[in-house]
Amino acid sequence: MLEKMGEFFDSRLNGYEEHQLNCIESAREFYPFTASCLPCYHNASVLDLGCGTGLELDWYFKLNPTSEITGIDLAVGMLEELKRKFSDHNVKLIAGSYFDVPLGSAVYDAAVSVESLHHFTKDKKTALYKKLHQSLKDGGYFILTDYFASSDEEEIMYMTELAGLKKSQGITDNGFYHYDTPLTVRHEIEALKLGGFSAVEILNSWGATSTIKAVKKSLSNVM
Ligand SMILES: C[S@@+](CC[C@H](N)C(=O)[O-])C[C@H]1O[C@@H](n2cnc3c(N)ncnc32)[C@H](O)[C@@H]1O
Repeated sequence: MLEKMGEFFDSRLNGYEEHQLNCIESAREFYPFTASCLPCYHNASVLDLGCGTGLELDWYFKLNPTSEITGIDLAVGMLEELKRKFSDHNVKLIAGSYFDVPLGSAVYDAAVSVESLHHFTKDKKTALYKKLHQSLKDGGYFILTDYFASSDEEEIMYMTELAGLKKSQGITDNGFYHYDTPLTVRHEIEALKLGGFSAVEILNSWGATSTIKAVKKSLSNVM
């Protein structure tokens, strides 16, 4: 049965971090790698899309304890756990969907998202990436670590399966239900470029998981 996204994660809060670290291939490599890509200077402002309990922040705060984090997540229980873990850090949490929450203009030095964005279509992500691009300062960047479909056929298969499940369960609303529908890396990069990011590159890969960096052009580099 499909479950609402926030409820899916909140109901699995117990044991969530152990599951991520022990059951996802190379998680103990890609979390620290992702953290190492984020700014290391004092008071860097970083937006975390789908922060959950903040696993990526476990590593990032070790590298940069003074960073100022804004985390957005649908699952209130996950956010409460993040707040408990990092009560002595500068963390602002927003309960809601990153598709709906206003992100502002030129606010963040960087943004990050780990294992959250593999549930959405390319169109939906393109709209989000436009908003994200706007929210970054000039020269700011987005680090995306997520897992990707290995082919166009696999991408279509997951989307088709989700549509079939929704139909069979009589779901007609546009709410978010937990079902993995990863894009291919090629389609993800296209969405980021359509969102306005100028330089997009794959920094690392572990099986189906990759880390992608997307940079907002610095105005001083614009001719
Ligand atoms: C697998 S967890 C990843 C959490 C954390 N980044 C990590 O790697 O441990 C995915 C998270 O994305 C959140 N999420 C999914 N869709 C979202 C949306 N539209 N807006 C905000 N959060 C969302 C879920 O609630 C969940 O906490």
